[in-house]
Order: sequence, then C-alpha cells, then structure tokens
Amino acid sequence: MPLNIVRNDITKMKVDAIVNAANPSLLGGGGVDGAIHRAAGPELLEECRGLGGCETGSAKITGAYRLPCKYVIHTVGPIWHGGLLGERKLLSSCYRESLNLARDAGCESVAFPLISAGAYGYPRDRALDVAVETIGAFLRDHEMTVYLVVFDRASFQIGERRFQAIESYIDDHYVDLRLDKARRVQSVGFPQPQTMAYPLGSAAPGNLREALAMIDESFSEMLLRKIDEKGMTDAQCYKKANIDRKLFSKIRSDRLYKPSKPTALAFAIALELPLGETRELLEKAGFALSHSSKFDIIVEYFIRQGNYNIYEINEALFAFDQSLLGN
Ligand code: APR
Repeated sequence: MPLNIVRNDITKMKVDAIVNAANPSLLGGGGVDGAIHRAAGPELLEECRGLGGCETGSAKITGAYRLPCKYVIHTVGPIWHGGLLGERKLLSSCYRESLNLARDAGCESVAFPLISAGAYGYPRDRALDVAVETIGAFLRDHEMTVYLVVFDRASFQIGERRFQAIESYIDDHYVDLRLDKARRVQSVGFPQPQTMAYPLGSAAPGNLREALAMIDESFSEMLLRKIDEKGMTDAQCYKKANIDRKLFSKIRSDRLYKPSKPTALAFAIALELPLGETRELLEKAGFALSHSSKFDIIVEYFIRQGNYNIYEINEALFAFDQSLLGN
C-alpha cells in the first residue's frame, strides 16, 4: 500500500529512511527527536553537528547508525501560532522536502512521525490532514511506500465533527450478528421467492445473453471495463486506490484474480462507484457489504456522502481501529 498509517515507535521501523521532527539546531531534543537520537547512538549527533542546523520547512539527511534503517531525514516543522503565519505551507514543505531527499537517496520506503503535532502544538487533526494531503500528492507521481507512524492513540485525531458523524452512522447501522441471529430465531419468516435482482446501479441487460455475460464477467474484467468507462488510465486508478503497481499488474494479467475485500473496495472508491455498483464489484470478488462490519459501514458512510478521498477514508478507518483500504 503506497500510504500506510501504522501504530509503532518510529525507531523500530525497518524502512529505508525515517524522518525526525527536529528543531533548527539539529542537536537533539525531546519527543521523537530524543527517541531517534537515543536509538541511533552518539554518532548521529556527531554527524548533525556538521550540518549547520536546518531552517523550518527544510530537511537534511544523515546516516542512521544503530537504527534499523539506512537514513535519518531531519526536518523542522513550524511551531503553531494559530495558523495565520504560514504554518500549513511550512508543514507541507517538511513532508515534500523530506520525500524529495528520500527519492534522491534512492529510498523505496519512508516513515514519518506526525511532524509538529507534539511539542510544536500543531492541532493534531490538521497536522494529519497536511501530512496525508502532501504525501498523497507526492505518491501520484512517484512509486514509494510511505508510513505515517502514530506513536500513541492520543496523538492520532481526525476532525471531531467527522468522527461524531461516523460514530452516529455506525450506531444507526451496525447490526451485531449475535443480536441479529436472536432476532432471526424469533421471527420465522418464509424465504422470499428468489428473484433475479440485477445489482443496483447496473442497467438491466437487454437480453438473456447479455445477462449471462454480466454474471460471467470476472472482478478483473469488470474493473478494467469500469476504468475504460470512466476514461481513466490504469495508473490513475490504482494510485487513487492506494494500490501499488505490482498488485495492479497481477490483477490485470489474471482474469480470475481474487483480491482481498480492502483491495476490491479501494478500487470501487477510486472509480467513485455508487453503492449499487460497489456491491456488484465486490460480488465479483466474492464479498458483500455487511452491516455487521464497522469497516464496511464506514466505507458505506463515505460513499453515501459522495466522499471518495481514500486518504480521508483511511484516516477514519484508522481512527476506528479498522484495517485500511488499499493493498
Ligand atoms: N515514534 C513515533 N512518533 C513519536 C515518537 C516515536 N518514538 N515519539 C513521539 N512521537 C510523536 C508524538 O506523539 C507527536 O505526535 O511524534 C509527533 C511529534 O511530536 P514531537 O516529537 O514533540 O515533535 P514536534 O511537535 O515536531 O516538536 C518538535 O520537539 O523534541 C523536540 O527537538 C524537538 O524542538 C523540537 C520539537
């Protein structure tokens, strides 16, 4: 998955480069800066001494010494002063400059902390949005795996209003399977006559041959057909789905490929399919949307809102301890 959100201690991340939320002196501090220097050992500070500091919004790269990665990229985030002194622009520059240094160093994987979201006081939900938006923009033009590393639950926050809206949507729709089973035992209904209901959103076919062709269409065939219908390129689709190129070419070359549910749903989001066609695409992969799965309900919430931003959906899924969309 090109952009992952994970809970971890960044000093444990086995990636090509980790990013340090430093201060302009680059001579260490508290928070993640302190943790990285402690884990890397004194050689890191020695190298930093020779860098002559770093401006806010810029980044510099060093070795990683005792850390399980190749490089440390030191960037200096803005201190929050209310948002009217260009903080957003500076914070975005931290991510972009760090990613450019990682790219120039040939890194294939990079891990970021939430820069400025600690001692520098940047509101956590806004810091998260700037991070995801800037990294997402970079990933549209580059192949790289990026981890946003969340150290503790408290430091991860999506917008309060959105959190509450999703929480009430879950409350209204979540069906606990145990309860549902009890209800089913009580009301012994007669099975509904099986009618050939065409999935919502797909036009009823003209004739039987067309109908059978639609049923035979595999997940991969429907996906490629939809990409063409939407006038998208393959790359636009899989990047928007937070899927890497390798997996996409596997799906493209094997008409019977069966993706995971998060992968199938990620493509439905990338194609901006309405609920009916989302269900149809899922069915081709052998899945259904279920109200006994918070993951499904949260994705359904965003589809009903017409919000197909996969990074915002993943932020919400992460906030509710669910797996993320993508591969
Ligand atoms: N791994 C991942 N994330 C971490 C870790 C860790 N080991 N330790 C802290 N964090 C998270 C915090 O929870 C916060 O969300 O990193 C984020 C950034 O917090 P800070 O480290 O306080 O960085 P920042 O807000 O950018 O302030 C930088 O603090 O440590 C000093 O020298 C640093 O002066 C600079 C200032």
